[in-house]
Amino acid sequence: MHALYYDRYGGPDVVSPREIAMPEPGTGEVLVRVAAAGVTTADWRLRASAFPGGLWLAGRLMTGLFGPRKRVLGGDFAGTVAAVGKGVSRFRPGDPVFGFSRYGAHAEYLVMPAEGALARRPEGITPAQAAALPFGAFCALEFLRDKARLRPGQRVLVVGASGGVGVYAVQMAKMFGAEVTGVASGDNLGLVRDLGADHVVDYRTTDLAGLSQRFDVIFDTVGALSFAAAKGLLGPRGLFLPLNFSAADLPRALFSGRKGGPRMVLHVSGDTREQAETVAGLVAAGRLKPVLDEVYPMDRIGAAYAHVEGRHRRGAVVLDIGRAADRDAVA
Ligand SMILES: NC(=O)c1ccc[n+]([C@@H]2O[C@H](COP(=O)([O-])OP(=O)(O)OC[C@H]3O[C@@H](n4cnc5c(N)ncnc54)[C@H](OP(=O)(O)O)[C@@H]3O)[C@@H](O)[C@H]2O)c1
Repeated sequence: MHALYYDRYGGPDVVSPREIAMPEPGTGEVLVRVAAAGVTTADWRLRASAFPGGLWLAGRLMTGLFGPRKRVLGGDFAGTVAAVGKGVSRFRPGDPVFGFSRYGAHAEYLVMPAEGALARRPEGITPAQAAALPFGAFCALEFLRDKARLRPGQRVLVVGASGGVGVYAVQMAKMFGAEVTGVASGDNLGLVRDLGADHVVDYRTTDLAGLSQRFDVIFDTVGALSFAAAKGLLGPRGLFLPLNFSAADLPRALFSGRKGGPRMVLHVSGDTREQAETVAGLVAAGRLKPVLDEVYPMDRIGAAYAHVEGRHRRGAVVLDIGRAADRDAVA
């Protein structure tokens, strides 16, 4: 099968198309024929070994010290169940699905645990739209629902509101009844408003530290604020949730809020079946909409990475995996 393969860390050029063996589903697993797969900031960090703030060694220990252990990247995907392993009753061949796999989705076929972050694809959305959901929507759900435990009427600042995670954070914060302020730049402020933000701030013309409002929760998806800067924008028991943090933030978070004052919580998202099913349900109910920036053919993976690494994507960047497969089938 076609896959986008890499065996050393580096720039987009370390990834190239290759024919690799097709995986087979084992007990409790499903084989998915991938139609569309996201290219995310996580794929970029794993490919380049670009882990922020002193976490390089921890990252390398996780992914492979001298070279990547997993050779095919890609977390977000949407496609169709092609086969199921023993003991799987949750899915059948032909089921349209989407989910998050951490690795392996930049290929025509992918094996997933049937009980993993996988759900039936909601009707009425395309595979590309479905592949635009998992990374950002599962993360926003976990941070805002489970970590912040957002309540109606709370004031939330979403930094990076038009990005991969931000577009879902704005929608979910509104869904939980919060008053939402979204931070992005000029051209994207309209999108952030359309997603439901009550207020928008252009970080290119406004210094966030100078904002007069005080927030109950700051969800910084870009690493624009330090905890010291965030404290000045938070109410007395406000919560700072940064998606990017450094090793030096670990003790700061541990001791924050112990004697009162704002808290910082650091967390790494885990992707679950419950999140996939919840997001599918929200989309089916019309309460959450996928935000798809651009779709690239598989052979333009370099351009897709450049788009993502520029840090100005509007929602998700997706690869059309199905198109490459179909072209081959025709040839
Ligand atoms: N801890 C975890 O579990 C976890 C989970 C998921 C992701 N992450 C990390 O979280 C980050 C979020 O990823 P993402 O994919 O959402 O990022 P992204 O798509 O690259 O975010 C782009 C957004 O950031 C805005 N932006 C760019 N520069 C900015 C600046 N200087 N100040 C304020 N806003 C700025 C952009 O606005 P404009 O385009 O309008 O300029 C856009 O809204 C990644 O680094 C990822 O590794 C961590």
